[in-house]
Amino acid sequence: MIHLENALFAWPDEEALINIRDFSVKEGEKVFLKGSSGSGKTTLLSLVAGIQTIQSGSLKVRGEELKNMKCHKRDRFRGDHMGYIFQQFNLLPWLSIEDNILAPVLFSPVKRKKEKGKHHNKVRELLDELSLDVDLRKKAGNLSIGQQQRVAVARALIGNPELIIADEPTSALDADRRKNFMNLLFSECEKRGATLLVVSHDRELATRFSRVVDLESINGGAYV
Ligand SMILES: Nc1ncnc2c1ncn2[C@@H]1O[C@H](COP(=O)(O)OP(=O)(O)O)[C@@H](O)[C@H]1O
Ligand SMILES: [Mg+2]
Repeated sequence: MIHLENALFAWPDEEALINIRDFSVKEGEKVFLKGSSGSGKTTLLSLVAGIQTIQSGSLKVRGEELKNMKCHKRDRFRGDHMGYIFQQFNLLPWLSIEDNILAPVLFSPVKRKKEKGKHHNKVRELLDELSLDVDLRKKAGNLSIGQQQRVAVARALIGNPELIIADEPTSALDADRRKNFMNLLFSECEKRGATLLVVSHDRELATRFSRVVDLESINGGAYV
């Protein structure tokens, strides 16, 4: 699903932050990538998602070399095959909860097809499972942080993407909700055979994953 080889990335006017000789994630694997704050976790995820591109080496997702794709093709590729849970959620505050969750399905015919026209029911199902009992017409900007996080998860899961990427996804949740949240993320990924890549500095999350990788052990970047 993901393969990096001699992948090098530096922010402008900085030394290399990411320098990964060899790292891969197999289809269906659930990988927990840990690393201290500032170690480059979010940067690495933005490379895997094709938001940023590596400056040399290789980074393939589903066998496709991301840096060879034009920007709009990478956006499309991400929209069709990935679900991304951002650290800051990135919900659209002026849109309703429902429209936020449905956005990926509206933008990607691939995701739409996978929901077989039943995406409105799917929104309710996902929010039930996430125990978010709110009026779907409410604006996303009025939600608490914990609620926003769950809407962000529902948005990532809709359309059954093959790869779910999550950046510190439990940071705004209390212990109970954290457990529910991870249960949901795991069961949803298992149901679909989706690959899951989670980064966090919260080591407690690591216990359930099939593989735990320390970013510092695979990355020779200057900041590590
Ligand atoms: N958009 C950006 N422009 C320039 N530097 C950045 C940007 N985003 C992150 N960095 C730098 O990259 C380093 C790693 O940041 P980040 O990937 O966010 O780490 P983490 O997610 O592990 O806390 C930091 O030194 C940060 O300042
Ligand atoms: Mg981060």
